[in-house]
Amino acid sequence: MTSILVTGGAGYIGSHAVLALLQAGHDVCVIDNLSNGSVVALERVQKLTGKKAAFFQGDIRDPRILRKVLSECRVDSVLHFAGLKAVAESVRDPLSYYENNVNGTLQLCQAMADVGVFRLVFSSSATVYGDPVSVPLSETSPMSLPTNPYGRSKLIVENLLQDLARADKRWRVAILRYFNPIGAHVSGQIGEDPNGIPNNLLPYVTQVAIGRLKFLQVFGDDYPTPDGTGLRDYIHVTDLVAGHICALKVLDSQEGLNVWNLGTGKGHSVLDIIRTFERVSGRSIAFTVAPRRDGDVAKCWADPSKAWRDLGWKADRDLEQMLSDAWRWQLNNPSGYSFSSHGVPG
Ligand code: NAD
Ligand code: WQD
Repeated sequence: MTSILVTGGAGYIGSHAVLALLQAGHDVCVIDNLSNGSVVALERVQKLTGKKAAFFQGDIRDPRILRKVLSECRVDSVLHFAGLKAVAESVRDPLSYYENNVNGTLQLCQAMADVGVFRLVFSSSATVYGDPVSVPLSETSPMSLPTNPYGRSKLIVENLLQDLARADKRWRVAILRYFNPIGAHVSGQIGEDPNGIPNNLLPYVTQVAIGRLKFLQVFGDDYPTPDGTGLRDYIHVTDLVAGHICALKVLDSQEGLNVWNLGTGKGHSVLDIIRTFERVSGRSIAFTVAPRRDGDVAKCWADPSKAWRDLGWKADRDLEQMLSDAWRWQLNNPSGYSFSSHGVPG
């Protein structure tokens, strides 16, 4: 029996992917160095599915462990989530971002080729579009240079994969460009557990609601948008991982490399998020308006029609569901995976 390797499977999106793969009947193995993931997430996935993914603690930059996992687990496809993702940190420490995201992917592809595995689904980001010339963004929209080292590391990996697929016809690659993944599994058992103070809007909002943070800063209310705050395409993490399962299926028949946007096609403002969150949670969110954040764009949302045409995939869950699931996760796990709501580990 062959299996699917999930790099970064103990992280936010990876753990939801492991759950979906196990539920779809796949054998799964995970490699994660736990720099931003938790084994508790995988334990909870096991409880939710009644199935276990094989877990290897290790780094994708280590060719020995990669080759061991790829051959011991008889891997036939890889979902590649492992990497660093904090934009501000990437500005302070670009080398770590190029090292983890670019060199990590290079080592992964080399190890895959060494053992004869050529099917790869890569987590890219709408950040590769830079400051959009117009919205919605389709896969062929012009790409200006991303505004930070994190984004540039994703663009470099996309180019690397393009070159690889051109050079060697055995490769079958799906590049998935995520818009803004939020939410949590409906059980409230797995979700996003950022290290330290969150950079992203949603975990910040839920931590204000739970009382871990005092107030939210809304970065800019003078954008050319209906309420002056930034518009983004928020997508439920469960819909996002469903897109990966569809992409995996398409790799059976597709040759070469393909790119798909994974978004809902709708833009929501920061104030929409605050108001909808307040409604679904019954908590009020204290906020102040702060200056624009460096590198932020006014509007960013997807044209997801190519994914619908090619993959038969579209996002089903609306903003209310995304926010109520995020809130359930936060309420059940006020300190993320470190302590449960009863104050005991796990
Ligand atoms: P995450 O930090 O929760 O998960 C990444 C996982 O990879 C973590 O468990 C971490 O421990 C592991 N990891 C990091 N470097 C590693 C290495 N060198 N070797 C082995 N494991 C390593 O992040 P996430 O939100 O789940 O994102 C997953 C992927 O999706 C990332 O590649 C990210 O860039 C991409 N992405 C995320 C978003 C988002 O908003 N969350 C948006 C677009 C793209
Ligand atoms: C969303 C909106 C902010 C925090 C980032 C990365 C992108 C991708 C997803 C990985 C914006 C506003 C935010 C806060 C705020 N990640 N905001 N107060 O910036 O769209 O995308 O995450 O690939 O690459 O750049 O997401 O959640 O940080 O911000 O007002 O405390 O919320 O200005 O309008 P972003 P975000």
